[in-house]
Amino acid sequence: MKKIILFADPGIDDSIAIMYALLNPEIEVLAIVSSYGNVDKEQATENIAYLLELADRTDVHIIGGTNAPLSGEIPKFYPEIHGQEGLGPIRPPEDLSFELTNFSKIYDIIENNKDVTIVDVGRNTSLASLFLLGENLTDAVQEFYIMGGAFMVPGNVTPSAEANFYGDPTASHLVMTNFDNLYIVPLNVSNKAIVTMEHILAILEMTNHPLVQIMDEVMKYYIDAYKKLVPGIEGAPLHDVVTLSLMVNPDMGRTIRREVEVLTSGEGKGTSIADFRVSSTPSEKNSNIYLEVDYEMFLKDFMKVMSSAGK
Ligand code: RIB
Ligand code: CA
Repeated sequence: MKKIILFADPGIDDSIAIMYALLNPEIEVLAIVSSYGNVDKEQATENIAYLLELADRTDVHIIGGTNAPLSGEIPKFYPEIHGQEGLGPIRPPEDLSFELTNFSKIYDIIENNKDVTIVDVGRNTSLASLFLLGENLTDAVQEFYIMGGAFMVPGNVTPSAEANFYGDPTASHLVMTNFDNLYIVPLNVSNKAIVTMEHILAILEMTNHPLVQIMDEVMKYYIDAYKKLVPGIEGAPLHDVVTLSLMVNPDMGRTIRREVEVLTSGEGKGTSIADFRVSSTPSEKNSNIYLEVDYEMFLKDFMKVMSSAGK
């Protein structure tokens, strides 16, 4: 059983990742940290609250994260991929009631729970803030799973940069260079985690759990967006879900231990770099980059977790 604090910016694949985490018996969600990214922080927070309500899990803390990158630049959002409100065509109800917990709660949770894993599937600003606030998390947190970067494949926002690292490259660089026990799930792996409408409809036939009920509309929007972006693609990649799936099934992929740097300015802003030459050596700290994932295993795990909802 993995006890996690999930940092997210829902966003469609973040929302499916939240559903997956809540429904997976191998994962205990202690808190969700809400930050800007695919949508602004207020919208991300409402989306998390809505998903927790549908899951009947309003006991999970929603922690207020950051509004903007460390550079102070105004963030760019992505309604063409995630919808105006981040859930495709779906809008959380206006009368949603929830409480936003203070950022410092993260320290309490880490202190009161042994072996917490932090999973960050959004811009790394909130995670980097934990470091900037001066607490040493390296010993207290078991491991950090980060969805971000692109190694030996093109980026998805610039020719070489992936969206999470591009959104706040200073924060990502800080996390990559100062945190230990890192497991990085980059685009070269997450792009392969493609889920189609056929998979979603098969899940819907097996469960009528309220959380899963909104998946077809949400995923249809996301898949249609990807079909415009990537001609010939049959579904859409669930970047944030495969990160969680690898966390509970680490043998589903292959990693290499290397230091990672993130370029913070210029044409290559947000680009992730690691040395993969045959002459290169493993990083001194425990910093692991996923290079491959077993797609069939991922799909099996995703279908199993989602379709067993409510059973
Ligand atoms: O590049 C993929 C990442 O960017 C995912 O976390 C997705 O949610 C988007 O923000
Ligand atoms: Ca995300």
